[in-house]
Amino acid sequence: MVVIGKEIKASLPAEVLSLVRAAGKLAAEREQKLYLVGGVVRDIFLKRRNLDLDLVLEGDAPSLARELAKTKDGKVVTHDRFGTATFRKNEISIDIVTARSETYSRPGALPTVKPGMIGNDLFRRDFTINAMAASLEPARFGKLIDPYGGKDDLDRRLIRILHKDSFRDDPTRIWRAIRYEQRLDFKLEQETERLLRHDVAMIGKVSGDRLRHELERILEEDKPEKMLRRAAELGVLQQLLQSLEGNGWLARRFQEARKIDVTDKTKSAIYLALLAWRLNSENMEALIERLRFGSEASRVLRDIPEVKQTLPALTVGRIKPGAICRLLEPHRQQTIVAASLAADSALVRRRLKRYLADLRFVSPRLSGEDLKSMGVAQGKKLGALLKLLKEAKLDGMVKTREQEKKLVRKWLREGKV
Ligand code: CTP
Repeated sequence: MVVIGKEIKASLPAEVLSLVRAAGKLAAEREQKLYLVGGVVRDIFLKRRNLDLDLVLEGDAPSLARELAKTKDGKVVTHDRFGTATFRKNEISIDIVTARSETYSRPGALPTVKPGMIGNDLFRRDFTINAMAASLEPARFGKLIDPYGGKDDLDRRLIRILHKDSFRDDPTRIWRAIRYEQRLDFKLEQETERLLRHDVAMIGKVSGDRLRHELERILEEDKPEKMLRRAAELGVLQQLLQSLEGNGWLARRFQEARKIDVTDKTKSAIYLALLAWRLNSENMEALIERLRFGSEASRVLRDIPEVKQTLPALTVGRIKPGAICRLLEPHRQQTIVAASLAADSALVRRRLKRYLADLRFVSPRLSGEDLKSMGVAQGKKLGALLKLLKEAKLDGMVKTREQEKKLVRKWLREGKV
């Protein structure tokens, strides 16, 4: 019997540990069994930080979660129909679900779910390393339940499915297999890799929302280029869209992208733009439709072919800063960041970076209010004048407020806008 009580205690923060133990005690009082399962058990063995806690109860999870919330002064959100609950306290979030068995009516469909025991619950999971549980029963705290040899596969660094129909039941597991293999520097077990290659076309059965979710999870990883390269090698990336590539070109751009100081969300958006960079408009539309991207991501993606069309104008020998702004201002910032990494010409990349770091922040000395007090009515004309003033300032035509005013009066006289 393997017991990992010590390892659990060593890897969970004290407050989380105390909540988990309290939950185990409450379950025992109801004569129900509670387990820590899935990714967190895997990561305890691997000594990787993971505070995404999943608990499985052989019993009604929402009811236990409510009791835990009451005794531990936390909050709870339950989905009674699904037998799931999320307990929250301070920054801590713990998912508690009723043990269940799943069957699949057809490939790619969502499973039919029935309450079950921990054994059924582990059998419905994706890979052996994710199909381990540790008891939270006070008398057996940390006793490992490992029916599929997950611990051995961790030691051998293998990603292995539990049965031969696994990828057909849930083809999103094909993406998940690649994600874990590359994140952990593991290998797909031989038969798993054979079945993955065999079932790769099943990805076509998966809904756009579920596929997009898998891609987003990959783009949130530390080094998504590793997963995309492997996905290309296995023919998985091409299942999203035939013309997508996950090669060295992409890897170098991703590495560059990581040097830019942006939020994680922006970084994922830039990765996506780079992945889609070389698509033409037609394929871009196909990608947007297949993965059902939301309006913001779609805007960035649709802007790519347009930005690519403006890039040749940035290759001319001399170009004034005002002209650079005029060319780039209509475009999404994330697309321009992607362009500054992806453009072939070093000169163009330099100019794009200059725009991003500097030019785009320049504003005229006169404000909208100033223009209004000069008799310009609120509206399009005022906006156009401010833009022209900004360009004039960037190009060194005006320096002082007085010079800006003079120029505006001249434009108004000449009917420039
Ligand atoms: N799971 C599964 N099949 C899926 C999705 C999830 O079997 N298609 C199971 C796995 O046991 C997994 C657990 O549900 O460990 C939790 O899912 P998720 O949060 O997606 O996985 P983690 O292992 O926690 O992944 P990560 O480390 O990336 O958060």
